[in-house]
Amino acid sequence: MPVDILVGAQWGDEGKGHITDLLASNADIVARFSGGDNAGHTVTIGDKVFKLHLIPSGIINSRVTGIIGNGVVVNPEVFLQELNGLLQKGLDIGQERLKISNRAHIITPGHLALDRAIENAKGQSAIGTTKRGIGPAYTDKTARTGIRAELMHKPDHFADAVANHLKETNHLLTKLYGEKILNVRETRARYMELARLIAPFVTNTSALIHDALNSDKEIIAEGAQGTLLDLDHGTYPYVTSSWPTSAGALGGLGIGPNSVRRVIGVAKAFTSRVGEGPFPCELTGEEAVRLRGTGTNPWDEFGTTTGRPRRVGWLDLAILRHSVQVNGLTDLALTKLDILSNISEIPVCTGYRLDDRLLRHFPSDLETLSNCEPEYVNLPGWDEDISNARLWADLPVNAQKYVEFISDLIGIPIKLISVGPGREQIVTL
Ligand code: GDP
Ligand code: IMO
Ligand code: MG
Repeated sequence: MPVDILVGAQWGDEGKGHITDLLASNADIVARFSGGDNAGHTVTIGDKVFKLHLIPSGIINSRVTGIIGNGVVVNPEVFLQELNGLLQKGLDIGQERLKISNRAHIITPGHLALDRAIENAKGQSAIGTTKRGIGPAYTDKTARTGIRAELMHKPDHFADAVANHLKETNHLLTKLYGEKILNVRETRARYMELARLIAPFVTNTSALIHDALNSDKEIIAEGAQGTLLDLDHGTYPYVTSSWPTSAGALGGLGIGPNSVRRVIGVAKAFTSRVGEGPFPCELTGEEAVRLRGTGTNPWDEFGTTTGRPRRVGWLDLAILRHSVQVNGLTDLALTKLDILSNISEIPVCTGYRLDDRLLRHFPSDLETLSNCEPEYVNLPGWDEDISNARLWADLPVNAQKYVEFISDLIGIPIKLISVGPGREQIVTL
């Protein structure tokens, strides 16, 4: 009864969609457990590029059932738009293979407006959120004032709950933030309609997962965001409002640790971050452009959800060791190794130094983190284009050494190496 949990090991956008799609070929269920449509997961199959925000990436595989777990916050408008987009691309997705947890919380226009207003009010200290209403929706959840998907089975009650929540939000928006009010009547009517359309997808997914476990089905828990965006283990307060780490998969799906077989961390061969907050290995200027790209390739480092240019830097093993620890990673999938071709020497951060002392653990407070000096070693690069590599032996010796160096310093095996965005561009070890 195995569950494999897949988590982002850095600040998100590690290529989780790509790796999930790959693993989904052997899976029965792929379940999202945290976040919402702040995520942007890309799956590339031939000349088709799928960008998923809320619906699990595994859905592209026709034998997979996709689950949006109780830990996810669901914007019903986005859910329908995304579903329609996938149907238009020729996928066959109905209620029988796409489910939303009855315990998942709903994002409303009130949450979207609050996310924008709170960010604007913060000015210089804004978090740089995706403005998808994520923080306010989780705030309502923990304040026990949220609206759960199960209420969609009673569209009238659901619409009333949304209307009441909007009235309260309007109070906050006008009195606290000086913003305009939202139209309660129109939103109520729209959310009534949305409830009717979406209720057939809403069910007890925790029970469904347990039945699947008892029938020895293969389940993948698809993480969103990344370890350093975790509410507890990330660079607080520059984090998201949920738990993208492996523990979040247990709470966010309603499973116990005894069901878990592997915890796969997905890490990019360098580091990226979108939004504000500390980034010890951040690069600027030409070196940054070299890693980010200029936007001419679909895989260049521009946000899948917001289109913002991602901040980039060399690979940071202090971050990856932290990820190994807090997630209990069993192995790593390394993506975008192809981007490092044609760099004569590749710096890798092996740890942080603070006042001549090498830190043993990733610091929790931002002041320490911003005073840390990354310690680098330079590894010899390779000139070959590796995007056609499919076997370990196809990789140049220096690329192999780069991979081995990482694995040695973080103490877990690297079992997948991605050398391009395409489904087939993988070296499996
Ligand atoms: P996610 O949020 O973790 O699913 O990652 P994103 O989809 O936001 O960003 C990863 C980007 O890198 C996407 O454009 C992917 O298609 C692309 N990608 C994934 N793996 C590779 C790889 O090995 N090489 C290259 N060049 N691109 C990749
Ligand atoms: P995937 O799943 C990268 C970042 C935002 C911001 C912070 C808080 O594609 O890896 P939020 O809207 O969640 O309140 O924003 O978190 N962030 C992501 N960064 N990838 C993501 O998802 C992200 N989801 C949120 O940029 O810094
Ligand atoms: Mg992404």
